[in-house]
Formats: sequence, C-alpha cells, structure tokens
Amino acid sequence: MSTLFICVTCRREGEAPAEPRPGARLFAKLQEQAPDLDIVSVECLSNCNRSCTAAVTAPGKWTYVVGGLDPDQHAGDLLQFAHLHDASADGLTVWRERPAHIRKNTIARVPPMPMSLSKEPS
Ligand code: FES
Repeated sequence: MSTLFICVTCRREGEAPAEPRPGARLFAKLQEQAPDLDIVSVECLSNCNRSCTAAVTAPGKWTYVVGGLDPDQHAGDLLQFAHLHDASADGLTVWRERPAHIRKNTIARVPPMPMSLSKEPS
C-alpha cells in the first residue's frame, strides 16, 4: 500500500496565517476521503516555498514529492495520483494519466532504496 506523507505545518506563500494551517486542512480532508490509503502527517518536507507539500511512497517504489497543493482544490488530484502510484509495480505512473496539477508541481522523484545496501559481515 502506498503511503501519503502530508506536511501539516505548510502555509501557502503569501497567505495570511490561519489556524488550522492549510497543510493540516489538507491532511484532514484526505483522511476523510481515503480511509483505504495510509496517510501520515509530518512536519516539513523541506519544500516550504512551494507549499502545501506531500510525498507519495511505498517500499520498493519510486517516491514523488509534490508541491503547490491547495487543500480546497487539489485533495482529489493527490488522491488520484496516490491510487495510480499504489496500482503501479514500481511507483512510476504514466505521465499523461497524472492529474494536471500533479504533472506541473512534481518537485522531485526519488528512486527506490536498493534491497541490499549493507555489506556481508566479514
Ligand atoms: S512547512 Fe511544509 S514543507 Fe516546510
């Protein structure tokens, strides 16, 4: 199952301070809408200038960091992308099948961790 990390401390650039923060509102919305996904709150994904920010990952799969998320507009896009990621074998989803906002606001993709990074004991 893919995991969706949501930064709950994010604020959109130029937005007046609000409580709860937009990142926290995005997290709450996603939890309501997708009880089938593993959704985890985190404090800062180091993409503060292009917030709100989320990361989609799973063991053995590519990880995607997505920014510029508006809790009132993009929760559905993020869930669609998380489901595509979950359904893929390696986390690499078909570019044209991703929601437009996800295509235009992918900050980074990170390859899966190699299964064996440690050396055999000598
Ligand atoms: S506060 Fe959300 S990415 Fe830094």
